[in-house]
Amino acid sequence: MAGAAAPPLLAVQGLTVRYGALTALNDMSWQVSAGEILGIIGPNGAGKSSCFAAVTHAVRRDGEVRLEGQRVTGLKTHELARLGLRRTFQQNAFFGELTLLENAMAAMLRDHSTSLAQSIALPWRELATRRKAEAAAAELLTSFGIAPEDHGKRPGDIAYGTQRLLSVVLAYGAGARALLIDEPAAGTGGADMKRLADLLVDLRRRGVAVVVIEHHMDLIMAIADRIVVIDQGRKLAEGTPAEIQRNEAVLEAYLGRAA
Ligand SMILES: Nc1ncnc2c1ncn2[C@@H]1O[C@H](COP(=O)(O)OP(=O)(O)O)[C@@H](O)[C@H]1O
Ligand SMILES: [Mg+2]
Repeated sequence: MAGAAAPPLLAVQGLTVRYGALTALNDMSWQVSAGEILGIIGPNGAGKSSCFAAVTHAVRRDGEVRLEGQRVTGLKTHELARLGLRRTFQQNAFFGELTLLENAMAAMLRDHSTSLAQSIALPWRELATRRKAEAAAAELLTSFGIAPEDHGKRPGDIAYGTQRLLSVVLAYGAGARALLIDEPAAGTGGADMKRLADLLVDLRRRGVAVVVIEHHMDLIMAIADRIVVIDQGRKLAEGTPAEIQRNEAVLEAYLGRAA
């Protein structure tokens, strides 16, 4: 039923972020559809993370944000999260004192204000319901590639690569419509990068609109449907991975330097 007129799941227009005298993001526009991976690349300090902060209203910004065509510019970060627009950070973020399973339950609880969520929070409620919630949390972790043997551990006690996966899975929680993922593969390599790539592709298959900032060119070129290149706060180029790889301005400003 996705007619030609269907609006993109997430569209940003003219986003501008200023920190004092510094314009970190300047008139940025892009859009991403459900079931699509948009890659964002650019040098350090280009304004990539500021762009995510702007979309999720974590900073003051000018411009417009639309979800399925609806203007959501004025909504607060947590209201956007409730609508299924969420972000992960360059640094890992989870509850260090909780097990992975409990972290997953908390993430699903965050996304529901239902009776199920209440029964998780109220231990005197039916035990069977809690078991059901634990099973759902275990299924969430396992289905995204986090092995059951890790579910009882705390985040600090699992491999770093698995921590990176966990950050994305917790942001997905009970389901997301648009996920902004900031350098998921930072500090990883080899097999861990492959697991992250599989996770991002899986999110796309589930119909999530995925926007991913990443420095690993092999990874981003392999999985992104389209790429936006940011340099000094501005959009330098936009296109398919193949188009970006042969774009003169990009080669000069960024890919050439990074190589
Ligand atoms: N909270 C902040 N206050 C002031 N300057 C910031 C802040 N966050 C980022 N910056 C600056 O804004 C620019 C863009 O930063 P950032 O969005 O983090 O870039 P990237 O993620 O592309 O590396 C940089 O010059 C950075 O130093
Ligand atoms: Mg950044």
